[in-house]
Amino acid sequence: MTSSSAAATTTTLLLTLSLLLFLSLPAPSLSSKPLCHPQDRKILLQFKNSFTNPNPSLPSWNPNITTNCCEWYGVDCDLTTNRVTSLSIFSTNLSGQIPASIALLPSLQSLTLRKLPYLTGTIPAAIAKLSNLNMLRLSWTNLSGPVPSFLSQLKNLTFLDLAFNNLTGSIPVEFDRLPYLGAIHLDRNKLTGQIPDWKFQSGNAPDIYLSHNQLTGLVPKSFGYYNYSTVDLSRNMLSGDLSFMFGSNKTVQALDFSRNSFEFDLSIVVFPASLTWLDLNHNKIFGSLPVGLTGLNFQLLNVSYNRLCGKIPAGGKLQSFDVTSYFHNRCLCGDPLPSC
Ligand SMILES: *[C@@H]1O[C@H](CO)[C@@H](O)[C@H](O)[C@H]1NC(C)=O
Ligand SMILES: *[C@@H]1O[C@H](CO)[C@@H](O)[C@H](O)[C@H]1NC(C)=O
Ligand SMILES: *[C@@H]1O[C@H](CO)[C@@H](O)[C@H](O)[C@H]1NC(C)=O
Ligand SMILES: *[C@@H]1O[C@H](CO)[C@@H](O)[C@H](O)[C@H]1NC(C)=O
Ligand SMILES: *[C@@H]1O[C@H](CO)[C@@H](O)[C@H](O)[C@H]1NC(C)=O
Ligand SMILES: *[C@@H]1O[C@H](CO)[C@@H](O)[C@H](O)[C@H]1NC(C)=O
Ligand SMILES: *[C@@H]1O[C@H](CO)[C@@H](O)[C@H](O)[C@H]1NC(C)=O
Ligand SMILES: *[C@@H]1O[C@H](CO)[C@@H](O)[C@H](O)[C@H]1NC(C)=O
Repeated sequence: MTSSSAAATTTTLLLTLSLLLFLSLPAPSLSSKPLCHPQDRKILLQFKNSFTNPNPSLPSWNPNITTNCCEWYGVDCDLTTNRVTSLSIFSTNLSGQIPASIALLPSLQSLTLRKLPYLTGTIPAAIAKLSNLNMLRLSWTNLSGPVPSFLSQLKNLTFLDLAFNNLTGSIPVEFDRLPYLGAIHLDRNKLTGQIPDWKFQSGNAPDIYLSHNQLTGLVPKSFGYYNYSTVDLSRNMLSGDLSFMFGSNKTVQALDFSRNSFEFDLSIVVFPASLTWLDLNHNKIFGSLPVGLTGLNFQLLNVSYNRLCGKIPAGGKLQSFDVTSYFHNRCLCGDPLPSC
């Protein structure tokens, strides 16, 4: 037997084996999806047809191909009730506004409309009727208008993401009434006014992302009370003191306060041992770098473009960062900057 015919025989054998295997396997998972509830299918078709380009944007949402809406792109259903529990539409050219009929999907727990550049209009009040929602993600769209305070009626929300939109106005204080909220993303909008004086019900506040807006004023003192793991207030027009955000009893991991007008004495700040990410660049922070910084396990430290002075303490991670972590201060010196 030549090596090529041996190879051919092996290939035939493998093909036969895989065909046998394929035939003995259970039917592909698609057809094991729950059979969608007729009322939900009707609402999904209404939702689809409310857009100006439904067929090219949601080609699988076609009852001529499959009537089972649980098999359509981005749709998930509950295995026992057959109701639609999750809708996740991502990166299509779907053009138009979010229809109020979305509220007629009563079992919806997760709603994601993301990277839809032609999604316009405001966030409809109907969304507040989706009382089972735990995840609401409307991001990278052209949605405009306010961040609605009626979202605080969605008591089960654990994740709220309205980032990368064209939202205006101020941030609702009512979000502190959401007992399970673990993260709030309002970054990359055009929000103005002050950060609300949130009084979260638990000592553990959600992760807060407010960067790239036009927020002004002071950070409310109440922020000093809570345990956060991440707070990102970068690229706003915030000012004043922030020293109350630190302290040895905190459990915070990442703080980004860069590109604002914060002004306080860094020398007296005690940093929590949990802190691994601290970006303070482009503010008006003065004083010197406290020796306590050498005890922290930083992944990132950036204090550039401030008004700091004195010797960079030696030790810990402080010399593992390059000049750009420290440059453009008033008179900061020592490794990795030139010696004092
Ligand atoms: C389904 O088929 C009907 C009849 O052929 C047709 O009129 C309709 O446009 C089709 N629907 C879609 C979404 O393609
Ligand atoms: C969306 O529209 C843009 C520009 O018209 C086009 O380049 C892109 O391919 C479209 N994307 C989809 C997923 O249809
Ligand atoms: C919003 O629309 C503008 C103009 O049509 C477009 O350039 C931009 O990418 C859109 N924004 C998003 C986040 O999709
Ligand atoms: C929140 O979710 C729980 C189950 O996770 C459910 O029992 C409850 O009804 C929901 N709350 C609201 C306001 O719908
Ligand atoms: C954002 O909204 C403003 C005012 O509502 C509008 O003038 C602007 O074109 C919008 N930007 C984009 C990218 O759509
Ligand atoms: C913050 O966390 C610490 C350590 O887990 C805990 O002792 C403290 O009570 C918490 N603070 C609040 C306000 O919940
Ligand atoms: C940390 O301690 C300060 C002062 O003792 C207290 O006011 C603050 O509530 C505490 N913060 C946390 C997160 O426990
Ligand atoms: C620190 O921030 C400055 C200003 O944005 C930037 O140029 C520099 O690359 C940053 N350095 C590090 C190490 O993050």
